[in-house]
Amino acid sequence: MISGVNEFQSALDNVLGTLELLRAGGGRSPRASRTTLQSLQRKPAEPKAPSAPDARTKPERLAEVRARVAICTLCPHLAESRTQTVFGVGHPDAEIMFIGEAPGADEDAQGEPFVGRAGQLLTKIIQAMGFQRADVYIANVMKSRPDMPAGQSGNRPPTPQEMAHCLPFLMEQISIIQPKVLVALGATAVEGLLGTRGTMRDLRGKWHAFHDTPLMITYHPSYLLRNQAPSEKRKVWEDMLLVMEKIGHPISDKQRKYFL
Ligand code: URA
Repeated sequence: MISGVNEFQSALDNVLGTLELLRAGGGRSPRASRTTLQSLQRKPAEPKAPSAPDARTKPERLAEVRARVAICTLCPHLAESRTQTVFGVGHPDAEIMFIGEAPGADEDAQGEPFVGRAGQLLTKIIQAMGFQRADVYIANVMKSRPDMPAGQSGNRPPTPQEMAHCLPFLMEQISIIQPKVLVALGATAVEGLLGTRGTMRDLRGKWHAFHDTPLMITYHPSYLLRNQAPSEKRKVWEDMLLVMEKIGHPISDKQRKYFL
């Protein structure tokens, strides 16, 4: 570090010397005002001491992020159209964090993720794993419902730009909760997290990582509602068995053979 500061100082001395020479020679270019020269001559700031660990509890830290999310206007059209933001729900020390794409109409109305039909199926999956909803953490990449053209019902997927605006909030949630694993539900959530669009066939059933946290990718529950084939349910359940194994959660014989 010391040698880095010395190198910086000697490079700066060179620049200053050259500028002074140019000024003395009456050249017009490059130009640096006296104020600029003076500010360049100021000593470089000392490297900052590492900041003190955050003394606040996880719920306090989450509440602070939630308050910022609630007034976010990075997507002005969504700030205008939403009933409320949908932050996330669950245990601040959850080992598993489920991540969906965006609130739908039900979530926008209730302010909680995954409370509609897809959410009820997600709750069943969580219970089949041996947990309650309150044991895990559930959030979306998007905290606002993607708006729909006037007079149209239903949901639309968020755009990459909308997701890019919202992702930092999710990253803060992850860094506060520090789950052992993340479970991304569906290709849009994966795109929001990893910035890559792939097919679920290629992505699911194996471990990925999101900033050092193991990431399992599986089908969105709404896909299972559309496609009732037992083979598809089985795939999601196999992904959940991998998650349970990863966190060391006991798996009964019944669960191993379970077919959702
Ligand atoms: N689908 C999602 O991806 N998230 C929700 O909260 C509800 C439905």
